[in-house]
Amino acid sequence: MPIIKKITARQILDSRGIPTLETTIILDNNLHSSSSVPSGASTGAHEAVELRDGDKNYFFGKSVLKAAAKVNNNINSLLQGIDVSQQKKIDTLLIEADGSADKSNFGANAILSVSLSCARLASRNNNLPLYQYLRQLYSGKFNSQEVRPIFNVINAGLHASGSVSFQEFFLIPKNKNFADSLQTGCQLYQQLKKELLVLGKNTSVGDEGGFAPRFENNDQVIDLLIKVIGDADVTLGLDVAANTFYKKGFYLPEDIRLSSDNYLDFIFRLSHKYNLEILEDPLAEDSWADWVNITARIGNKTKIIGDDLLVTNPHRLKKAIDIKAANGILVKLNQIGTLSETLEVVRMARDAKFTVIISHRSGETTDDFIADLAVAVGADYVKFGAPARGERVAKYNRLLAIYQNNL
Ligand code: PGA
Ligand code: ZN
Repeated sequence: MPIIKKITARQILDSRGIPTLETTIILDNNLHSSSSVPSGASTGAHEAVELRDGDKNYFFGKSVLKAAAKVNNNINSLLQGIDVSQQKKIDTLLIEADGSADKSNFGANAILSVSLSCARLASRNNNLPLYQYLRQLYSGKFNSQEVRPIFNVINAGLHASGSVSFQEFFLIPKNKNFADSLQTGCQLYQQLKKELLVLGKNTSVGDEGGFAPRFENNDQVIDLLIKVIGDADVTLGLDVAANTFYKKGFYLPEDIRLSSDNYLDFIFRLSHKYNLEILEDPLAEDSWADWVNITARIGNKTKIIGDDLLVTNPHRLKKAIDIKAANGILVKLNQIGTLSETLEVVRMARDAKFTVIISHRSGETTDDFIADLAVAVGADYVKFGAPARGERVAKYNRLLAIYQNNL
Protein backbone atom coordinates (compact mmCIF):
# COMPACT_ATOMS: atom_id res chain seq x y z
CA MET A 1 0.00 0.00 0.00
CA PRO A 2 1.42 3.40 -0.93
CA ILE A 3 2.43 5.75 1.85
CA ILE A 4 1.56 9.38 2.58
CA LYS A 5 4.00 11.77 0.87
CA LYS A 6 2.54 15.20 1.66
CA ILE A 7 -0.43 16.77 3.42
CA THR A 8 -1.49 20.36 2.74
CA ALA A 9 -4.48 22.38 3.91
CA ARG A 10 -6.00 25.64 2.74
CA GLN A 11 -8.67 28.01 3.88
CA ILE A 12 -11.80 27.87 1.71
CA LEU A 13 -15.38 29.12 2.21
CA ASP A 14 -18.41 27.25 3.47
CA SER A 15 -22.00 27.74 2.32
CA ARG A 16 -22.46 30.70 4.68
CA GLY A 17 -19.37 32.48 3.32
CA ILE A 18 -17.42 31.64 6.49
CA PRO A 19 -13.92 30.14 6.26
CA THR A 20 -13.43 26.41 6.62
CA LEU A 21 -10.66 23.97 5.85
CA GLU A 22 -9.89 21.82 2.83
CA THR A 23 -7.05 19.31 3.01
CA THR A 24 -5.26 17.42 0.23
CA ILE A 25 -3.15 14.33 0.75
CA ILE A 26 -0.71 13.02 -1.86
CA LEU A 27 0.63 9.46 -1.82
CA ASP A 28 4.08 8.40 -2.98
CA ASN A 29 2.41 6.98 -6.12
CA ASN A 30 1.07 10.54 -6.72
CA LEU A 31 -2.58 9.61 -6.23
CA HIS A 32 -4.24 12.40 -4.25
CA SER A 33 -7.52 13.26 -2.64
CA SER A 34 -9.15 16.19 -0.82
CA SER A 35 -11.81 16.67 1.84
CA SER A 36 -13.38 19.72 3.40
CA VAL A 37 -15.11 20.05 6.75
CA PRO A 38 -18.45 21.53 7.80
CA SER A 39 -19.27 23.85 10.69
CA GLY A 40 -22.30 24.40 12.92
CA ALA A 41 -24.12 27.48 14.21
CA SER A 42 -26.06 25.90 17.08
CA THR A 43 -23.08 23.94 18.37
CA GLY A 44 -23.32 21.84 21.52
CA ALA A 45 -21.13 22.86 24.46
CA HIS A 46 -19.56 19.39 24.52
CA GLU A 47 -18.45 19.23 20.88
CA ALA A 48 -14.79 18.89 19.90
CA VAL A 49 -13.30 22.35 19.37
CA GLU A 50 -12.98 24.01 15.98
CA LEU A 51 -9.73 25.98 15.81
CA ARG A 52 -10.38 29.54 14.57
CA ASP A 53 -7.94 32.42 14.51
CA GLY A 54 -9.96 34.96 16.50
CA ASP A 55 -8.55 38.02 14.70
CA LYS A 56 -11.55 40.37 14.64
CA ASN A 57 -10.10 42.31 11.71
CA TYR A 58 -9.85 39.27 9.45
CA PHE A 59 -13.05 37.36 8.57
CA PHE A 60 -14.48 38.61 11.92
CA GLY A 61 -12.25 36.16 13.81
CA LYS A 62 -13.52 33.16 11.85
CA SER A 63 -10.47 32.44 9.68
CA VAL A 64 -8.79 29.03 10.01
CA LEU A 65 -5.18 29.81 9.10
CA LYS A 66 -3.88 28.39 12.39
CA ALA A 67 -5.70 25.12 11.74
CA ALA A 68 -4.26 25.04 8.20
CA ALA A 69 -0.79 25.58 9.64
CA LYS A 70 -1.28 22.68 12.09
CA VAL A 71 -2.06 20.43 9.12
CA ASN A 72 0.81 21.74 6.98
CA ASN A 73 3.39 21.46 9.76
CA ASN A 74 2.55 19.23 12.74
CA ILE A 75 0.23 16.73 11.02
CA ASN A 76 2.24 16.56 7.82
CA SER A 77 5.37 15.57 9.79
CA LEU A 78 3.38 13.18 11.98
CA LEU A 79 1.86 11.16 9.15
CA GLN A 80 4.47 11.25 6.39
CA GLY A 81 5.51 7.70 5.45
CA ILE A 82 2.40 6.06 6.95
CA ASP A 83 0.24 3.58 5.04
CA VAL A 84 -2.93 5.54 4.18
CA SER A 85 -5.17 2.49 4.68
CA GLN A 86 -4.29 2.34 8.39
CA GLN A 87 -7.28 4.51 9.35
CA LYS A 88 -7.44 3.49 13.00
CA LYS A 89 -3.71 3.99 13.47
CA ILE A 90 -3.83 7.38 11.75
CA ASP A 91 -6.76 8.59 13.85
CA THR A 92 -5.10 7.36 17.05
CA LEU A 93 -1.86 9.15 16.14
CA LEU A 94 -3.82 12.36 15.50
CA ILE A 95 -5.67 12.12 18.83
CA GLU A 96 -2.47 11.38 20.78
CA ALA A 97 -0.39 14.08 19.10
CA ASP A 98 -3.14 16.64 19.69
CA GLY A 99 -3.07 15.58 23.34
CA SER A 100 -6.16 17.49 24.51
CA ALA A 101 -9.53 16.04 25.56
CA ASP A 102 -11.44 18.22 23.10
CA LYS A 103 -9.01 18.35 20.13
CA SER A 104 -8.42 22.04 20.77
CA ASN A 105 -4.69 21.84 20.15
CA PHE A 106 -4.73 20.92 16.44
CA GLY A 107 -8.44 21.74 16.13
CA ALA A 108 -11.14 19.19 15.32
CA ASN A 109 -11.45 20.88 11.92
CA ALA A 110 -7.77 20.20 11.13
CA ILE A 111 -7.90 16.63 12.44
CA LEU A 112 -11.15 15.73 10.67
CA SER A 113 -10.05 17.10 7.30
CA VAL A 114 -7.03 14.76 7.43
CA SER A 115 -8.98 11.78 8.77
CA LEU A 116 -11.56 12.01 5.96
CA SER A 117 -8.96 12.61 3.25
CA CYS A 118 -7.12 9.44 4.29
CA ALA A 119 -10.28 7.33 3.95
CA ARG A 120 -11.16 8.83 0.58
CA LEU A 121 -7.64 8.32 -0.71
CA ALA A 122 -7.43 4.73 0.52
CA SER A 123 -10.76 3.94 -1.17
CA ARG A 124 -9.45 5.36 -4.46
CA ASN A 125 -6.23 3.48 -4.13
CA ASN A 126 -8.26 0.27 -3.65
CA ASN A 127 -10.55 1.13 -6.58
CA LEU A 128 -13.54 0.91 -4.27
CA PRO A 129 -16.45 3.36 -4.08
CA LEU A 130 -16.07 5.27 -0.84
CA TYR A 131 -19.18 3.74 0.76
CA GLN A 132 -17.86 0.22 0.17
CA TYR A 133 -14.50 1.06 1.69
CA LEU A 134 -16.20 2.71 4.67
CA ARG A 135 -18.42 -0.33 5.18
CA GLN A 136 -15.30 -2.46 5.57
CA LEU A 137 -13.97 -0.07 8.19
CA TYR A 138 -17.33 0.01 9.97
CA SER A 139 -18.04 -3.73 10.18
CA GLY A 140 -20.99 -3.23 12.56
CA LYS A 141 -24.75 -3.88 12.42
CA PHE A 142 -26.68 -1.91 9.81
CA ASN A 143 -30.12 -1.31 8.40
CA SER A 144 -30.23 -2.89 4.92
CA GLN A 145 -33.12 -0.65 3.76
CA GLU A 146 -32.24 2.50 1.82
CA VAL A 147 -31.94 5.54 4.08
CA ARG A 148 -34.93 7.81 4.54
CA PRO A 149 -34.30 11.50 3.97
CA ILE A 150 -35.42 14.05 6.55
CA PHE A 151 -36.12 17.36 4.79
CA ASN A 152 -35.72 20.51 6.85
CA VAL A 153 -38.17 22.66 4.88
CA ILE A 154 -38.70 25.56 7.31
CA ASN A 155 -35.57 27.10 8.85
CA ALA A 156 -35.84 29.18 12.00
CA GLY A 157 -33.99 29.58 15.32
CA LEU A 158 -30.33 30.39 14.77
CA HIS A 159 -30.50 29.40 11.08
CA ALA A 160 -32.83 32.21 10.00
CA SER A 161 -33.36 35.60 11.57
CA GLY A 162 -36.65 36.93 12.89
CA SER A 163 -38.67 33.74 12.92
CA VAL A 164 -40.03 31.24 15.47
CA SER A 165 -38.00 29.50 18.18
CA PHE A 166 -37.84 25.89 16.97
CA GLN A 167 -34.85 25.57 14.65
CA GLU A 168 -35.98 23.01 12.03
CA PHE A 169 -39.30 21.65 10.76
CA PHE A 170 -39.07 18.29 9.00
CA LEU A 171 -41.02 16.49 6.32
CA ILE A 172 -40.18 12.76 6.38
CA PRO A 173 -41.52 10.84 3.35
CA LYS A 174 -42.26 7.16 3.76
CA ASN A 175 -41.72 5.89 0.22
CA LYS A 176 -40.26 2.46 -0.39
CA ASN A 177 -36.90 3.70 -1.65
CA PHE A 178 -34.68 6.75 -1.43
CA ALA A 179 -35.29 8.08 -4.96
CA ASP A 180 -39.07 8.08 -4.48
CA SER A 181 -38.73 9.77 -1.08
CA LEU A 182 -36.51 12.40 -2.66
CA GLN A 183 -39.13 13.03 -5.33
CA THR A 184 -41.88 13.35 -2.72
CA GLY A 185 -39.75 15.71 -0.65
CA CYS A 186 -38.95 17.91 -3.66
CA GLN A 187 -42.59 18.11 -4.76
CA LEU A 188 -43.79 19.05 -1.27
CA TYR A 189 -41.00 21.63 -0.96
CA GLN A 190 -42.21 23.29 -4.19
CA GLN A 191 -45.82 23.01 -3.04
CA LEU A 192 -44.87 24.68 0.24
CA LYS A 193 -43.35 27.55 -1.72
CA LYS A 194 -46.63 28.04 -3.59
CA GLU A 195 -48.62 28.03 -0.31
CA LEU A 196 -46.24 30.59 1.21
CA LEU A 197 -46.71 32.85 -1.81
CA VAL A 198 -50.50 32.55 -1.53
CA LEU A 199 -50.18 33.63 2.12
CA GLY A 200 -48.06 36.60 1.03
CA LYS A 201 -45.04 35.25 2.86
CA ASN A 202 -41.39 35.56 1.93
CA THR A 203 -39.88 32.52 0.18
CA SER A 204 -36.19 33.27 0.68
CA VAL A 205 -34.32 30.44 2.34
CA GLY A 206 -32.24 29.93 5.51
CA ASP A 207 -28.84 28.31 6.02
CA GLU A 208 -30.08 24.78 5.33
CA GLY A 209 -32.23 25.58 2.30
CA GLY A 210 -35.60 25.62 4.08
CA PHE A 211 -37.89 28.62 3.69
CA ALA A 212 -37.55 31.27 6.37
CA PRO A 213 -40.61 33.55 6.46
CA ARG A 214 -42.11 35.11 9.55
CA PHE A 215 -44.66 33.03 11.45
CA GLU A 216 -46.64 33.88 14.59
CA ASN A 217 -45.72 30.70 16.43
CA ASN A 218 -44.43 27.15 16.04
CA ASP A 219 -47.90 25.60 15.70
CA GLN A 220 -48.68 27.84 12.74
CA VAL A 221 -45.68 26.38 10.88
CA ILE A 222 -46.68 22.80 11.60
CA ASP A 223 -50.31 23.42 10.62
CA LEU A 224 -49.14 24.78 7.26
CA LEU A 225 -46.94 21.70 6.74
CA ILE A 226 -49.92 19.43 7.47
CA LYS A 227 -51.90 21.27 4.79
CA VAL A 228 -49.04 20.87 2.29
CA ILE A 229 -48.66 17.15 3.05
CA GLY A 230 -52.36 16.53 2.26
CA ASP A 231 -52.82 12.80 1.84
CA ALA A 232 -49.19 12.05 0.98
CA ASP A 233 -47.52 9.38 3.14
CA VAL A 234 -45.26 11.77 4.98
CA THR A 235 -44.70 12.32 8.71
CA LEU A 236 -43.48 15.30 10.69
CA GLY A 237 -40.47 15.98 12.86
CA LEU A 238 -38.70 18.82 14.63
CA ASP A 239 -35.24 19.86 15.66
CA VAL A 240 -36.27 21.94 18.63
CA ALA A 241 -32.62 22.87 19.42
CA ALA A 242 -33.87 23.68 22.92
CA ASN A 243 -30.52 25.02 24.16
CA THR A 244 -31.14 28.14 22.15
CA PHE A 245 -34.14 29.17 24.28
CA TYR A 246 -33.16 27.64 27.62
CA LYS A 247 -32.13 30.33 30.09
CA LYS A 248 -31.28 29.80 33.75
CA GLY A 249 -33.51 26.77 34.34
CA PHE A 250 -36.46 28.03 32.26
CA TYR A 251 -37.55 27.44 28.67
CA LEU A 252 -38.88 30.28 26.51
CA PRO A 253 -40.29 28.46 23.46
CA GLU A 254 -42.81 31.20 22.67
CA ASP A 255 -43.96 34.29 24.53
CA ILE A 256 -44.11 32.25 27.72
CA ARG A 257 -41.53 31.27 30.31
CA LEU A 258 -41.91 27.65 31.36
CA SER A 259 -40.41 25.69 34.24
CA SER A 260 -38.86 22.36 33.22
CA ASP A 261 -41.96 20.46 34.38
CA ASN A 262 -44.38 22.69 32.47
CA TYR A 263 -42.14 22.61 29.44
CA LEU A 264 -42.07 18.78 29.52
CA ASP A 265 -45.89 18.84 29.39
CA PHE A 266 -45.74 21.34 26.53
CA ILE A 267 -43.43 19.03 24.53
CA PHE A 268 -45.51 15.99 25.39
CA ARG A 269 -48.70 17.67 24.10
CA LEU A 270 -46.95 18.90 20.95
CA SER A 271 -45.62 15.46 20.10
CA HIS A 272 -49.04 13.92 20.69
CA LYS A 273 -50.97 16.58 18.75
CA TYR A 274 -48.80 16.29 15.64
CA ASN A 275 -47.87 12.61 15.88
CA LEU A 276 -44.20 13.51 15.53
CA GLU A 277 -41.96 10.78 14.16
CA ILE A 278 -38.76 12.56 15.16
CA LEU A 279 -38.08 14.96 18.00
CA GLU A 280 -34.49 16.17 18.08
CA ASP A 281 -33.02 18.05 21.06
CA PRO A 282 -36.36 18.75 22.74
CA LEU A 283 -34.46 19.60 25.94
CA ALA A 284 -31.31 21.39 27.04
CA GLU A 285 -28.02 19.55 26.54
CA ASP A 286 -27.30 18.76 30.21
CA SER A 287 -30.84 18.16 31.50
CA TRP A 288 -30.32 14.39 31.65
CA ALA A 289 -33.18 13.64 34.06
CA ASP A 290 -35.69 15.46 31.83
CA TRP A 291 -34.43 13.52 28.81
CA VAL A 292 -35.04 10.27 30.71
CA ASN A 293 -38.54 11.50 31.56
CA ILE A 294 -39.51 12.45 27.98
CA THR A 295 -38.06 9.20 26.56
CA ALA A 296 -40.09 7.17 29.06
CA ARG A 297 -43.25 9.12 28.23
CA ILE A 298 -43.18 9.20 24.42
CA GLY A 299 -40.19 7.12 23.32
CA ASN A 300 -42.42 4.21 22.26
CA LYS A 301 -44.00 6.39 19.52
CA THR A 302 -41.46 9.10 18.82
CA LYS A 303 -37.74 8.95 18.08
CA ILE A 304 -36.06 11.10 20.72
CA ILE A 305 -32.83 12.13 19.05
CA GLY A 306 -29.81 13.51 20.86
CA ASP A 307 -27.74 16.02 18.90
CA ASP A 308 -26.34 18.62 21.33
CA LEU A 309 -27.01 16.07 24.09
CA LEU A 310 -24.76 13.38 22.61
CA VAL A 311 -22.40 15.31 20.27
CA THR A 312 -21.31 12.04 18.56
CA ASN A 313 -19.33 11.32 21.73
CA PRO A 314 -18.96 7.71 22.93
CA HIS A 315 -18.96 8.67 26.64
CA ARG A 316 -22.12 10.74 26.40
CA LEU A 317 -23.77 8.06 24.23
CA LYS A 318 -22.90 5.35 26.76
CA LYS A 319 -24.50 7.39 29.52
CA ALA A 320 -27.64 7.95 27.42
CA ILE A 321 -27.89 4.22 26.69
CA ASP A 322 -27.36 3.27 30.34
CA ILE A 323 -30.00 5.62 31.76
CA LYS A 324 -32.34 5.58 28.68
CA ALA A 325 -32.08 9.32 28.04
CA ALA A 326 -32.87 9.04 24.29
CA ASN A 327 -33.52 6.36 21.69
CA GLY A 328 -31.63 7.81 18.75
CA ILE A 329 -28.52 9.77 17.85
CA LEU A 330 -27.66 12.45 15.32
CA VAL A 331 -24.19 11.67 13.96
CA LYS A 332 -21.96 14.56 12.88
CA LEU A 333 -18.33 13.81 12.07
CA ASN A 334 -17.06 17.21 13.18
CA GLN A 335 -18.62 16.95 16.64
CA ILE A 336 -16.05 14.31 17.55
CA GLY A 337 -13.34 14.95 14.94
CA THR A 338 -12.18 11.59 13.55
CA LEU A 339 -13.73 8.96 11.30
CA SER A 340 -12.74 6.07 13.60
CA GLU A 341 -14.44 7.56 16.65
CA THR A 342 -17.56 8.29 14.58
CA LEU A 343 -17.73 4.66 13.40
CA GLU A 344 -17.31 3.50 17.00
CA VAL A 345 -20.23 5.70 18.06
CA VAL A 346 -22.46 4.28 15.31
CA ARG A 347 -21.54 0.70 16.28
CA MET A 348 -22.39 1.46 19.91
CA ALA A 349 -25.69 3.11 18.95
CA ARG A 350 -26.68 0.14 16.78
CA ASP A 351 -25.87 -2.39 19.48
CA ALA A 352 -28.21 -0.45 21.79
CA LYS A 353 -30.91 -0.38 19.06
CA PHE A 354 -30.73 3.41 18.83
CA THR A 355 -31.97 5.10 15.66
CA VAL A 356 -29.02 6.42 13.61
CA ILE A 357 -29.27 9.67 11.62
CA ILE A 358 -26.26 10.90 9.63
CA SER A 359 -26.34 14.69 9.55
CA HIS A 360 -24.91 17.72 7.79
CA ARG A 361 -24.14 21.02 9.57
CA SER A 362 -25.63 24.42 8.83
CA GLY A 363 -22.28 25.47 7.33
CA GLU A 364 -21.45 22.95 4.59
CA THR A 365 -19.35 22.58 1.47
CA THR A 366 -20.11 20.48 -1.59
CA ASP A 367 -18.12 17.61 -0.06
CA ASP A 368 -20.46 14.59 -0.15
CA PHE A 369 -18.58 12.25 2.24
CA ILE A 370 -21.57 11.92 4.58
CA ALA A 371 -23.73 10.39 1.83
CA ASP A 372 -21.23 7.53 1.52
CA LEU A 373 -20.98 7.29 5.30
CA ALA A 374 -24.77 6.94 5.61
CA VAL A 375 -24.87 4.03 3.16
CA ALA A 376 -21.77 2.41 4.65
CA VAL A 377 -23.23 2.22 8.16
CA GLY A 378 -26.77 1.51 6.93
CA ALA A 379 -28.17 4.58 8.68
CA ASP A 380 -31.93 4.81 9.28
CA TYR A 381 -32.14 8.42 8.10
CA VAL A 382 -30.08 11.21 6.59
CA LYS A 383 -30.60 14.84 7.51
CA PHE A 384 -29.06 16.90 4.73
CA GLY A 385 -31.39 19.94 4.74
CA ALA A 386 -34.00 21.00 2.20
CA PRO A 387 -33.80 19.67 -1.36
CA ALA A 388 -32.27 23.00 -2.41
CA ARG A 389 -28.87 24.78 -2.37
CA GLY A 390 -25.86 23.14 -3.99
CA GLU A 391 -24.13 22.01 -0.82
CA ARG A 392 -27.30 20.15 0.35
CA VAL A 393 -28.26 18.75 -3.06
CA ALA A 394 -24.71 17.44 -3.64
CA LYS A 395 -25.32 14.89 -0.88
CA TYR A 396 -28.78 13.85 -2.10
CA ASN A 397 -27.42 13.48 -5.63
CA ARG A 398 -24.55 11.35 -4.37
CA LEU A 399 -27.08 9.00 -2.72
CA LEU A 400 -28.84 8.66 -6.09
CA ALA A 401 -25.56 7.64 -7.74
CA ILE A 402 -24.82 5.10 -5.02
CA TYR A 403 -28.28 3.51 -4.98
CA GLN A 404 -28.97 3.59 -8.72
CA ASN A 405 -25.55 2.83 -10.15
CA ASN A 406 -23.48 1.37 -7.28
CA LEU A 407 -20.91 4.02 -8.07
P1 PGA B 1 -25.85 23.29 13.30
O1 PGA B 1 -27.36 22.82 13.25
O2 PGA B 1 -25.10 22.62 12.22
O3 PGA B 1 -25.96 24.79 13.13
O4 PGA B 1 -25.33 22.92 14.66
C1 PGA B 1 -27.76 21.55 12.83
C2 PGA B 1 -28.52 20.83 13.90
O5 PGA B 1 -28.71 21.35 15.01
O6 PGA B 1 -28.95 19.71 13.68
ZN1 ZN C 1 -29.81 19.61 15.97
